[in-house]
Amino acid sequence: MDLSIALPKGRLMDNTMKYLKEAGIDLDLKKNRELVQSVDGNKVVLSKPSDVPVYVEHGIDIGIAGSDVLEERKSDVFVPIELDFGRCRLSVAVPEEKDVSVEDFEGYTIATEYPNLTSEYFEEMNISIKIVGLDGSVEVAPRISIADAIVDIVETGRTLKANDLVEIEKIMDVSALFMVNRISQKVRFEEINELVEKLKEV
Ligand code: PRP
Repeated sequence: MDLSIALPKGRLMDNTMKYLKEAGIDLDLKKNRELVQSVDGNKVVLSKPSDVPVYVEHGIDIGIAGSDVLEERKSDVFVPIELDFGRCRLSVAVPEEKDVSVEDFEGYTIATEYPNLTSEYFEEMNISIKIVGLDGSVEVAPRISIADAIVDIVETGRTLKANDLVEIEKIMDVSALFMVNRISQKVRFEEINELVEKLKEV
């Protein structure tokens, strides 16, 4: 293979490497800070998960990241397989002392890393809200009174609990996705298809 591959740094990384290895792609990455590495003829790009769909849309052949970031970024990529890891959910949470439901959110300020998905969700319910866009640790926002609620990823629920927040509504289920650049899917069809078939067997 000589593909360019965007891989997500952070919590999806271990499962991604394990999964690729089981499909016969054992990428021996250097553990330095080199973000673009040549491995067995492939170009591996170590990306922020939320940038993986953007890289794949703009020319990287394949990538793995969560469905949350693809939906938020709205990148135009081909998704041949949903993967069996990275399962979590995008949810609305509020401080535990607040006894409210999402229907009561008119005029609320919501902190999130997902401004598009959050706006769309509340627009659909006809509830007007304000958004504070943050780049991580959004659980802090209600505790320092810069937001009334948050929209964030929940996996085990431990982060919410540790920050005195409770989940009141799920917006969407999330899992890792295998993404393919639309042009690569056409011009390198056989190679990519062979890889997809191997991945499906894992
Ligand atoms: C994610 C998410 C929550 C946490 C949820 O953060 O934003 O903070 O994981 O997981 P839990 O329900 O198992 O506690 P991550 O650690 O990926 O970093 P981030 O805050 O930079 O998004």
